[in-house]
Amino acid sequence: MSTPVLVAVAWPYASGSRHLGHLAGAYLPADIFARHQRTIGNEVLMVSGSDVHGTPITVRADEEGVTPQDIVDRYHNEFVQQWDEIGLQWDNYTTTGTPHHARVTQDMFLRQLENGHIDKRTSDQFYDPEADRFLPDRYIEGTCPHCSYEEARGDQCDNCGRTLDATDLGSPRSKISGATPVLRATEHFYYRYSDFADEVGAWLRDKEGWRPHVINFVTRWVEEEGLLDRAITRDLDWGVELPVDNLGPGKRIYVWYDAVIGYISASQEWASKIGDDDRWRHWWQNDESRHVYFIGKDNIPFHCLFWPSQLLGYGDLHLPDDVPANQYVTFKGGKASASRGVGLTIREGLDLFQPDGLRYALAANFPEQADTEISVEEIARRINEELVATWGNLVNRVLSMVHKNHGAQPASDGRQAEDEAVLAAVDASLATANEQIGRVELRSALRTAMDGAQAINAYLNATEPWKLAKSDPDRSAVVLATALDGINGVRIAFSPFLPFSSAVLDEALGVVDGWQRVPVAPGTVIDKPVPLFIKVDVDELVGDDADG
Ligand code: MF3
Ligand code: ZN
Repeated sequence: MSTPVLVAVAWPYASGSRHLGHLAGAYLPADIFARHQRTIGNEVLMVSGSDVHGTPITVRADEEGVTPQDIVDRYHNEFVQQWDEIGLQWDNYTTTGTPHHARVTQDMFLRQLENGHIDKRTSDQFYDPEADRFLPDRYIEGTCPHCSYEEARGDQCDNCGRTLDATDLGSPRSKISGATPVLRATEHFYYRYSDFADEVGAWLRDKEGWRPHVINFVTRWVEEEGLLDRAITRDLDWGVELPVDNLGPGKRIYVWYDAVIGYISASQEWASKIGDDDRWRHWWQNDESRHVYFIGKDNIPFHCLFWPSQLLGYGDLHLPDDVPANQYVTFKGGKASASRGVGLTIREGLDLFQPDGLRYALAANFPEQADTEISVEEIARRINEELVATWGNLVNRVLSMVHKNHGAQPASDGRQAEDEAVLAAVDASLATANEQIGRVELRSALRTAMDGAQAINAYLNATEPWKLAKSDPDRSAVVLATALDGINGVRIAFSPFLPFSSAVLDEALGVVDGWQRVPVAPGTVIDKPVPLFIKVDVDELVGDDADG
């Protein structure tokens, strides 16, 4: 039975280059999960796009003295190029800057307004008396009320990851002029999240199998502060325009209200691109579908509390089924944060490493349960000592021997117990990896794939087919045929992680079709292999200014 699976991936702000921390936090796990789901026969729709609104964009534009659109175009193009180089297989990667996205956002707003979940209120917001303007979100910095971090921003604290209200910050200062802001009354639309406190609370209580840090965080949130109504418009001239004109000029829809709607607008855009306008409903208006959101931990409240409330306020749309948020990757001590300039950018990572090597090393360190630390040396070590030494060399060794001694896959009649045992170990590792990826335990699944490769290495060390080639050529042929059959299984477990080298193996051994080991048919011609991966020259790397 094939299930429609929505792989929803956090929309990166097109406000600056993304880092390896972002790649490991959301994009790569999503791609690995999606590739696995396709292989097991589910109907995957993987969508995201560049988040082009909000103060992250305008602050950057102000700093550079260019337009917000200049910033957005620059980084959106950079992202699209990088996703391609790192092998992300999107069904649709778009932006929140399209007319279609604006229409969908406005339609949701109007329906929720009609349903009574949006109302207008007056509140005091920070105003810069020198720059003569309001200071939404990131135009304010100050001290975090939760952890006392002094450079917290008006919308969130990068140190403790809490979502903030600018007016909660201690010693607030204007990012534009440095002035101490004053409070001034302003009118905004509010989303009545409190209307959904009970429903969202009950929905969360039903959840099973969620990562503990995710479910604990949101459960505590609901218990401690409940769901509070929040402003969904801002005093800003950049963003989706309001579909009603009674707030006066200079107001736009808040970026966090519109960005999550991108999951739907991108799905619809995909449907119209394939010439089947209603096809998105197969994922969004279908109880049988499964929606999995890949995000970093600072996005948890928006996806587990606010977005479900927005969906409920509209009606007849599928709620998230799992939100396997990742914690942070720290790069030699500091969080790999784009806005703080810590850690390698994705570009720098791609310039130093082969894409599969980078994917492997990051996946081996995914921060699934706790923050993890990476460095250039750690990435190089993972590539050389694990990916090349255990998997790359195994493939190269076996394909070379089969090619040299036989030219094609030999027959394997007369298999012995140790031959059957190694294939059974490979099959067991495939089954285990399948379950692990299904639960989004990607680090463990990668470990399991490696264990499968190790089992074949151990088998070769025990049987020594290179010696048997002289003393007992028939037995040597059976061992090599068995090892190649084993490789043909293990490569399936690696395929979601390593798409580039998998494509090379598809050429040599046939395209992977289903999550099941298929014997390599005797007589299949095996050409002289090209090594799957290049060993990293660590000395050369460490000489570089690696922590940038
Ligand atoms: N742009 C946000 C960030 O980088 C993520 C938005 S996810 C979305 O933190 F779903 F809301 F788009
Ligand atoms: Zn904090």
